Amino acid sequence: MSVRTPGSLPAELDDAVAALTAAGVASPRSDAEQLAAYVTGHPRWRLALTATISPPDRERFRDLVVRRVARVPLQHLVGTAGFRYLTLDVGPGVFVPRPETETVVGWALDAMRAAGRAEPVCVDLCTGSGAIALSLADELPGARVHAVEFEPAALAWARRNVMSIGRGVTVHHADVGIDVTGRNLDHTSRSRSTAGSTGHVPAVVDELADLVGRVDLVVSNPPYLCDDERDQVEPEVGRHDPPAALWAGPDGLAGVRAVAEAAAVLLGDGGQLVIEHSDRHGSAAPALLRAYGCWDDVLDHPDLAGRDRFVTASRRARG
Ligand SMILES: C[S@@+](CC[C@H](N)C(=O)[O-])C[C@H]1O[C@@H](n2cnc3c(N)ncnc32)[C@H](O)[C@@H]1O
Repeated sequence: MSVRTPGSLPAELDDAVAALTAAGVASPRSDAEQLAAYVTGHPRWRLALTATISPPDRERFRDLVVRRVARVPLQHLVGTAGFRYLTLDVGPGVFVPRPETETVVGWALDAMRAAGRAEPVCVDLCTGSGAIALSLADELPGARVHAVEFEPAALAWARRNVMSIGRGVTVHHADVGIDVTGRNLDHTSRSRSTAGSTGHVPAVVDELADLVGRVDLVVSNPPYLCDDERDQVEPEVGRHDPPAALWAGPDGLAGVRAVAEAAAVLLGDGGQLVIEHSDRHGSAAPALLRAYGCWDDVLDHPDLAGRDRFVTASRRARG
C-alpha cells in the first residue's frame, strides 16, 4: 500500500504530475511514472506498490522532472524510444520515432508478406534512428534492408542502433535530394525525366547504384512540415527534433517529392512505395504521385487516430 508522506515515492510522483501538468506536458502521469521507473529500476506497475524512494534516486528523479518541465523530450531523458518490437537509442541529433510510423511499417510488412519474395530488397530513405529499417529487418525474415541518412548526427544514431540491435541493415550516408527552397514546386516536369531515368537523377541513386531497378520496397518517413507551421509545433519538437527531420519547404512536400523521385528509379516494376506524410497532405501527396505518371494503385491511408498519414503506390512497369 502506498503512503503519501513528504519525500515518499507517491508524494514525489504527485508533485511531479502537478509540475508537468502546469508546464503543459500532454501525458503528465505517464511521463512521471516512466521517469520514476527509469530512475528506480522498478517496472512501472510496481510503482503503485512502492512507498519509498532513496535520497539519491529522489534527487535524480527531481532533476529529470525539472528537465521534462522545460520540455526536453521524455525519450531524450531516458535515452530510448520504443518502436514496434524494438527499443532504440535516441538523443540530441536524431528524430524520436513516433507511434504513427509503426502503422506505416505495418502496411509495408503486409505488402512484402503478400508479395511472397524470399529475400525482398527494402530501402528506408531518411532513416533517422533506423526505426523503420530495423523493424523491417526484425519482422521480415530474409529481407535485405538498406537505410539512408544524410545528417551526420542522425547517421551516427542509426549506426549505433544497428550495432546494438544486431539486425542486418546496411546503412548508407547519402543525400535523398530534398529541396526545401521552394524553387522546385513543378514536380511534374522533373518527374517525366526521373521516371525514364534520364536527366534529373537523385544523388542517393549513385550511392545505391547496385540496387537500381531491383528494389521491392521503398519506405520513408521524410521531413514533412510546412514552413508556416514553425510557430505551431510543441517545444519538444521545435527545440529538440533536428530541423532537417522536420521542415520540408513552403508546401511541406519537398520530402515526399524527393523520395518519390528516388523510388521511381530504385524500385523494380511492381515494387511498392510507402511514404508517410503530414495529416494536411491526404489529397496533395496522392495527387503528386499520380502526376508523376509512373505510379499505379496510388492510395492514401489513415493512422490509428484516423488522420490522413501515408500514401502507397506500386511502380508502373517500364515500357
Ligand atoms: C521525420 S525524420 C524520420 C526518421 C525516421 N525514419 C523515423 O521515422 O523515425 C526524417 C529524417 O530525414 C533525414 N533527412 C533530411 N533530409 C535528408 C536528405 N536530404 N537526405 C537523407 N536524409 C535526410 C533527417 O535527418 C531525419 O533523420
